[in-house]
Amino acid sequence: MEKGNCYIFDPESPTELGRLIDQDRVVTQAMGGPLVGIDDSTSLHNILDLGCGPGSWVLDVAFALAAEVEGVDISRSMVDYANARARTQKLLNASFGVMDITQPLDFPDASFDLVNARFLAGVLKREIWATFLDECDRILRPGGFLRLTEAVDFGATTSEVANQLGALTLHALYQLGYGFSPDHALGIPPMLLSFFRQQQYRQMAVSAHALDYSSSTEAWADMYHNVEVAGVQMKPTLMQLGLINEELFELLYQQTLSAMRSQSFCGLWHLTTIVGQKPVR
Ligand SMILES: C[S@@+](CC[C@H](N)C(=O)[O-])C[C@H]1O[C@@H](n2cnc3c(N)ncnc32)[C@H](O)[C@@H]1O
Repeated sequence: MEKGNCYIFDPESPTELGRLIDQDRVVTQAMGGPLVGIDDSTSLHNILDLGCGPGSWVLDVAFALAAEVEGVDISRSMVDYANARARTQKLLNASFGVMDITQPLDFPDASFDLVNARFLAGVLKREIWATFLDECDRILRPGGFLRLTEAVDFGATTSEVANQLGALTLHALYQLGYGFSPDHALGIPPMLLSFFRQQQYRQMAVSAHALDYSSSTEAWADMYHNVEVAGVQMKPTLMQLGLINEELFELLYQQTLSAMRSQSFCGLWHLTTIVGQKPVR
């Protein structure tokens, strides 16, 4: 089984840090807040976010609740940045550390009331997911909640070229060992549901989110920046896999950005959050 840092992007890149901050803003808003799917937060005292990036989810939750909220990420620069944000926001109940989540998690059994993770599709290869989910289960207290959010697709839009770029990215990820479906969707949410059922998790809540990033929406600018930055980061991978040559990539990329700048552009990004409660056995 392959372990270690297998993130599709460079986790220490300042560009990636900026992309994740912008993306979080629009995604959390589209999802209706950081704790959607958790009806009663009074029992949450110790909370963990896995693959926390620059820490926005942890900071939001630490602001909202009087709980200890911890985030871990493989990126030293993201963790340092997140700790600095916690200090400047005077959130003494938020903390961040470096950890490789493809390894056994460095926490004792039954440590947390809520374990959260979002957007690990490009972090965990498909053969690692099962071990990772078992680790999440191990560190959860009986009665604790596991809350996972993953993208269904890379956006469905009115632009054929933007859809082609999304499809190419999906194809590349699948070839590299990520996701559970090579075609139109990543296939991760159904796999997660299956895990929750096998483990007999209770109070299952499945929420579908659609992020509208059509022209003139509030999310448009952040999503435009996201596509602009993610496209540049994906380019070498797509070329190395022989899925596209440089000339064709540049054409597709520029045409996608141009389509997104058009007044008639419409796009929806679909995400799914699944929350379940670990049974008290
Ligand atoms: C797509 S980002 C998601 C960030 C955050 N969860 C969010 O929703 O904005 C994936 C994050 O996983 C981190 N990551 C990549 N490989 C990792 C690993 N092996 N262990 C821990 N974190 C990792 C990256 O540094 C990055 O911050």
